[in-house]
Amino acid sequence: MDKIKVAVIGATGAVGQVFMWMLADHPWFEVAYITASAARINQKYASTVHWLLPIEMPAAIKDQMISEFNTDAMKACGVQIVFSALPASVAAEAEPLLRDLGFYVFSNASAMRYDKNVPILIPETNLESLDLIEKQGYPNGGFVVTNANCVTTGLAMALAPLRKYGIKEISICTYQSVSGAGYPGLSSFDITDNCIPYIGSEEEKVEKEIKKILNIDPVVFAYCVRVPVMFGHLEAIWLTLEQDVDTDEILRTWSEFKEVSSLPSTPAQPVVYNSSNTFPQPKYAFWGSPKGMEVYTGRLKKKENKIGFVLLVNNLVKGSAGGSIQNAEAFIEKYGLR
Ligand SMILES: NC(=O)c1ccc[n+]([C@@H]2O[C@H](COP(=O)([O-])OP(=O)(O)OC[C@H]3O[C@@H](n4cnc5c(N)ncnc54)[C@H](OP(=O)(O)O)[C@@H]3O)[C@@H](O)[C@H]2O)c1
Repeated sequence: MDKIKVAVIGATGAVGQVFMWMLADHPWFEVAYITASAARINQKYASTVHWLLPIEMPAAIKDQMISEFNTDAMKACGVQIVFSALPASVAAEAEPLLRDLGFYVFSNASAMRYDKNVPILIPETNLESLDLIEKQGYPNGGFVVTNANCVTTGLAMALAPLRKYGIKEISICTYQSVSGAGYPGLSSFDITDNCIPYIGSEEEKVEKEIKKILNIDPVVFAYCVRVPVMFGHLEAIWLTLEQDVDTDEILRTWSEFKEVSSLPSTPAQPVVYNSSNTFPQPKYAFWGSPKGMEVYTGRLKKKENKIGFVLLVNNLVKGSAGGSIQNAEAFIEKYGLR
């Protein structure tokens, strides 16, 4: 069977690199076109990218040429799906244009996340939201599907199976890695041996997005903190639930939360709990199979009527590029483009 041709726009950034790594040997997709900013056009990927991942660059992508953003050239290459890892300000122009030209866009940028007919999709939690692409004009035209802000993705994964208990209130404090700000991100002067207790718009995004994804309306109290860690966002969470639930039941519910179907990028056990009191830690961000796609929980406790736990999400994999690839797989599985 022929693979589906895809483009990666913003292929050299932190998220773009994960796209390139994960798509290099993807069973359904073949990268036919890649872009970056103007200075890199007509250069070979390996000769210009500043490779950040703790995984060797796949040989197959090293010689791939970086092209200008040209939708006619993308069409000429047979591209149908576009994975976007552009900054929001650039995505705000590029993504609607691509959609209007009939491309199927899977984006990490926040530019279109809050549009009424644009889903913020996480296949394990709100697969039904994929139907919104029909309101954007599919199958006669293109569409944009977004994934959540990386912190919200981890939170939504842990909370989705707990929705049945009624989520009245969420208190969350995050410990977010520097890769979450892209490359080059913060100055080392600002983040070495230091933590910064503010990430612009992040707390607002968590509140807005968790409500849209899970279709719930809890009170949300959030603090988002940048910490001197390379990969993985840790989140310490307290929930107030409508029902009185003990920790054994929460553990059972997480363990029964299984993959929606066998998409190539979906782990068999999407939320993994470990009772060690030193789990989870950001150094496990690339654990699991597929690497970086599992969400880890630990430190579960109950006090009065509140349930507390800590989680780890790989912000670049499950929280961005891996999540987008999984969204495209969910689309293919439902609508059968192959
Ligand atoms: N990092 C995360 O954990 C994370 C998580 C979820 C969502 N996101 C979102 O994903 C997107 C990408 O994030 P990132 O962290 O990968 O950012 P990044 O490291 O800054 O990468 C941005 C990419 O876009 C390209 N680019 C920048 N300006 C451009 C322009 N004017 N025209 C064409 N290409 C341009 C860059 O090319 P050059 O390399 O040539 O500059 C690079 O490939 C953002 O919208 C971000 O908010 C990020």
